[in-house]
Amino acid sequence: MCGIIGCTGVENAGEVLVSGLRTLEYRGYDSAGIAYFDKEKGLSVQKAAGKIRALEEKLSALGEIKASSGIGHTRWATHGAPTDANSHPHGSARVQLVHNGIIENYAELRAELLGLGYVFSSETDTEVAALLLDRLLDAYASKREAIVALTGRLTGSYALGILFADEPDTVYAVRRGSPLMLGVGEGKSFLTSDLTAILTHTRDYLVLEEGEIAVLRDGGVLVMKEDGTPIERPLKRADWDARAVRLEGHAHFMHKEIFEEPTAIVSTLRPRVAGGLPDFSPDGVDAERLRRAERIVFIACGTAYHASLLARRMIEREARIPVECEIASEFRYRDPILSERDVVVCVSQSGETADTLAALRLAKERGAYVVSIVNVVGSSVARESDAVIYTHAGPEIAVASTKAYTVQTAILSLFAVWLARLVGKCSEARARELTEALTVGLPGAVREILAREEEIKALTAPLSDVSYLFYIGRCADADIAAEASLKLKEITYLHSEAYAAGELKHGTISLIEQGTPVIALSTEAELREKMIANVKEVAARGARVTAFAAGGETAHLAEVSDDLFVLPELDASVAPIAAVTVLQMFAYHAAVLRGCDVDQPRNLAKSVTVE
Ligand code: F6R
Repeated sequence: MCGIIGCTGVENAGEVLVSGLRTLEYRGYDSAGIAYFDKEKGLSVQKAAGKIRALEEKLSALGEIKASSGIGHTRWATHGAPTDANSHPHGSARVQLVHNGIIENYAELRAELLGLGYVFSSETDTEVAALLLDRLLDAYASKREAIVALTGRLTGSYALGILFADEPDTVYAVRRGSPLMLGVGEGKSFLTSDLTAILTHTRDYLVLEEGEIAVLRDGGVLVMKEDGTPIERPLKRADWDARAVRLEGHAHFMHKEIFEEPTAIVSTLRPRVAGGLPDFSPDGVDAERLRRAERIVFIACGTAYHASLLARRMIEREARIPVECEIASEFRYRDPILSERDVVVCVSQSGETADTLAALRLAKERGAYVVSIVNVVGSSVARESDAVIYTHAGPEIAVASTKAYTVQTAILSLFAVWLARLVGKCSEARARELTEALTVGLPGAVREILAREEEIKALTAPLSDVSYLFYIGRCADADIAAEASLKLKEITYLHSEAYAAGELKHGTISLIEQGTPVIALSTEAELREKMIANVKEVAARGARVTAFAAGGETAHLAEVSDDLFVLPELDASVAPIAAVTVLQMFAYHAAVLRGCDVDQPRNLAKSVTVE
């Protein structure tokens, strides 16, 4: 949610900042801007409402930018509309800053600054922080002290990149709550909300911790405590490479990321299998704590929450441990009942989702053992959990999550098998069978599905001119319906509802009329007859049914549906995961068909770092 970048020691800061912002654009695309030290004109600022393209047009009219350092921002609007004036950077003639996060006490600070004669040119919370820093520069002898004083006055979350007009080619950074990484290349240094934005320059980085200040100068990075004591921290090396953030021949990142699923599954599962059986001890998960668990509580948001729903099905079926799934933003306000006998599993692609992080902190406060499933190494959720199981999906750039969901459900299914073994509910033979189904069968099935793209695309034809549709399924199929429906809604703007197929007749079936598209999911082969009855109920009221099925006999389902897609042969426990790849592809082609901006749907941002 908003992306920030900064650099020093580069040859063309304008280009470096803008290309970094293009990579960060998934974090928000309401406006973009940069501030840099022009070798002739000094501290300069350029910004524009709209996507980064608008900023690029503005910059190209200026000709070559002669700068070796600067800061940049791509915005997801919170305070104030997406206008030029509200675009970052914000500040004064002395200081400019970019901000990711939310300053919660901005109204009070704004009133104070207005009283002191400050004039605001935007409605943002960020400008308040910038002008307060300007004010503090008069009260403190050093920039560091002024920044520390600023952080003492701000409540909320922030990652700030700061330029001072009287200190050319130096960038300061500080953070609380929002992520901030520092990159170090040969004679160059960077700050970024997300490593992907600097991968073309360096893979060596460190994470700026809360309570620290970074100074990027002379191509290096100095990290210090608030009192100025330098901190020595070894650099880490990112194992993602620059290809991960390029389209590599695909029309959209979402398409590319769906095609990366087979590899992502294998890379994620392989390190957790030893001798044909799951083993999560290398991840540092406390097996004893899990064995004693009376209950497992999943906490997540959006797509990650939907991955938890499928995990619940698998854990309850295989390990017979009670599972609850909680939406993070709701959980923490319900005064939840938790104890040290509970295991909490937080699921998050970015590891920076503010709601998930807040719920995690609450769960820890109440004594629960917290394991997290996270894709981004070193992210806040990962660092604050008792144990972390990293998914190895690589960077996910498209706003709509696809490969992250697939690997989350795959790793959680393997985790379920491990748990089932720990509590003695699963024979070795069954555990081996499931492990094989997940590690070999699943990626194989996903590959087969990807080869049938044209078939899936053809199924989207009925969606070209409808205004709403339904996804229906039972048990695991109701869980995957929720994800399929979310995917379709977010990228096509078509309203769709996911419903437990047996529940429809208790009210919602009144919405079915002649031609209403209904997507019927039937990977739970033992529930096939029940599902066929539900399909008949909607078909009798005029629904146009597209069915997706796996396993068992499908001829009867074919008879009652208008279209049927049969998934490759796969163990029943794993089939719903593969079905989601089909449904992601279905949503993707529906969005293309309807002319939507697939990778950057309106109003959204990835990594939701505000509550
Ligand atoms: C939808 C989507 C979101 C995220 C949600 C949680 O395609 O991507 O629903 O799943 O915002 O994000 P993470 O997993 O980063 O915590």
